Amino acid sequence: MKGFTATLLVCMLLGGSPGGAWPTHLACRSGGLEVFYQSCDPLQDFGLSIDECSRELKPNLSIRFGLILREDIRQLFLDVTLVSKGVSVLNFSYPICEEDFPKFSFCGRRKGEQIYFAGPVNNPAFDILQGEYEILLELYNENHSTVACANATVLCS
Ligand SMILES: *[C@@H]1O[C@H](CO)[C@@H](O)[C@H](O)[C@H]1NC(C)=O
Ligand SMILES: *[C@@H]1O[C@H](CO)[C@@H](O)[C@H](O)[C@H]1NC(C)=O
Ligand SMILES: *[C@@H]1O[C@H](CO)[C@@H](O)[C@H](O)[C@H]1NC(C)=O
Ligand SMILES: *[C@@H]1O[C@H](CO)[C@@H](O)[C@H](O)[C@H]1NC(C)=O
Repeated sequence: MKGFTATLLVCMLLGGSPGGAWPTHLACRSGGLEVFYQSCDPLQDFGLSIDECSRELKPNLSIRFGLILREDIRQLFLDVTLVSKGVSVLNFSYPICEEDFPKFSFCGRRKGEQIYFAGPVNNPAFDILQGEYEILLELYNENHSTVACANATVLCS
């Protein structure tokens, strides 16, 4: 928890990756699974951690993340692309905040605000097959403006 907040703070203080890439962060490492991610938003880095990850993914993963909003998020969507050996094997789009159906407390927050979320997310439960995967994640609002973007590497042994 402390480490997470500190990481987030450092990220915000650094405030920009002049000409370079953001550092790679560890989101979780347990139960035969390691997840690393890197922000692919040139404007900011963000903090993410997953509690108790394992290769048998539970349906109620608990996550924490924090970022500064670069756009209003009356509506928020997440696109996930799973890539294995250079081939995209799964595309998946998920509404997080909808006008009449805000699932999370941070829905409706405004540009410039800092959001911090800690809690369970409803995710599908499945067993991750052994191997190495790349995951691209993009959060965007109703105007298709990027709110956050990350590429992650999942190592399952
Ligand atoms: C993110 O993508 C960059 C560029 O393709 C790559 O060099 C980097 O290793 C990736 N990071 C992670 C954590 O997957
Ligand atoms: C998820 O559910 C399991 C079984 O119902 C429970 O033991 C576990 O504590 C829950 N985890 C979270 C993060 O809520
Ligand atoms: C989306 O664009 C419209 C028209 O430019 C604007 O009125 C609205 O505030 C924008 N919404 C967000 C969440 O930025
Ligand atoms: C996922 O989307 C990308 C880009 O839109 C596309 O190139 C790819 O073929 C799609 N993959 C699948 C499995 O649908």
